[in-house]
Amino acid sequence: MFKTLDQAGDLMGKRALVRVDFNVPLQDGVISDDTRLRAALPTIEVLRKAGAIVVLLAHFDRPKGKVVATMSLEPVAEPLAALIGAPVAFASDCIGPVAQAAIAALTPGDVILLENLRFHAGEEANAPDFAKALAQLGDLYVNDAFSAAHRAHASTEALAHLLPAYAGQAMRRELEALELALGKPQRPVLGIVGGSKVSTKLDLLMNLVGRLDHLAIGGGMANTFLFAQGIEVGSSFCEKDLANTAREIMAMAKTKGCALLLPIDVVVAEKMEAGAPSRTCGLDAIAPLDRILDAGPKTAERLISVMQSAKTLIWNGPLGVFEIPPFDAATVAAAKAAAALAKSGKLIAVAGGGDTVSALAHAGVTDDFSFVSTAGGAFLEWMEGKTLPGIAALEA
Ligand code: 3PG
Repeated sequence: MFKTLDQAGDLMGKRALVRVDFNVPLQDGVISDDTRLRAALPTIEVLRKAGAIVVLLAHFDRPKGKVVATMSLEPVAEPLAALIGAPVAFASDCIGPVAQAAIAALTPGDVILLENLRFHAGEEANAPDFAKALAQLGDLYVNDAFSAAHRAHASTEALAHLLPAYAGQAMRRELEALELALGKPQRPVLGIVGGSKVSTKLDLLMNLVGRLDHLAIGGGMANTFLFAQGIEVGSSFCEKDLANTAREIMAMAKTKGCALLLPIDVVVAEKMEAGAPSRTCGLDAIAPLDRILDAGPKTAERLISVMQSAKTLIWNGPLGVFEIPPFDAATVAAAKAAAALAKSGKLIAVAGGGDTVSALAHAGVTDDFSFVSTAGGAFLEWMEGKTLPGIAALEA
């Protein structure tokens, strides 16, 4: 178990090094989605109220150990200050005299953001010296960045061993939600895994078939499963070389008692374009030039009926090419059904991953889900059953 901030004792005047994930979409210095800044607010609030000096550690993009002016975190300080309702100081280096002097000038309740950790090669190398240089800046360490916890970097791993370490509010909330969805879920549990490639989600599928009662497979990866069963998929995206793997996953699901839900009808078009002529058909009517671009209405209906008898849903990946209507229909129908069930308290619905977050936003249902994780790689690795270094270090 990790420690949380209510176990940190008297924080008055203490310097709290808080690892946040401010890897936000930024165009010409303007943030287009501030979800990750908002996620850090509860922890910042708790620490400020307790009189701590809040020192925010973050990375931005992948500068690979060099100073890259366009990857500075400076444009984040002002918008963050506006959200907090108090000034946010900025230091142009995250270690050494510059950071030390900037922090020394602060008083209890103040907030400072340090420059991009990844400007130093020691961050991604998880280098002990770099972690020590960070540790010198604080009295305690708080990790509030679940979405960076799959990285064994100095600020997420080594640093946690050098100072009293705590999970922040957002981290705690995220871990609690994930535990509800997959750790100790109420059964039956239904998973939905979509997206284009089986190859990127192999570990995920293998882990899930051993833990879920039902697993619906959608998106491009479903084509590979259909092909593996001898179904003609026309010109659809399909990883034919993974047919054996798909068959292994199907066999494993059978042994473990996980019911796989593959499409029973599909929406096809010859072109993946908005407004391209499309039709719904059964699996026996896919023509050579057809591309499967969405699950059909019968597939969506069956998925929703399984959802209605499930207690828990965990979702990663869309069922079709939701960015191009009308190929968003199955994803939107399933998302709306899950949201309604979650809202009425009948289903714990947890979703995560970049595409899934966009798909739920597209369906207008994000707020009705029990929890939506904005973590990409970290959510996936957690669903794969892997130990995340940033979490393990907090628990050590
Ligand atoms: C993310 O945006 O998923 C995290 O901030 C991790 O970023 P990374 O993939 O560059 O490590």
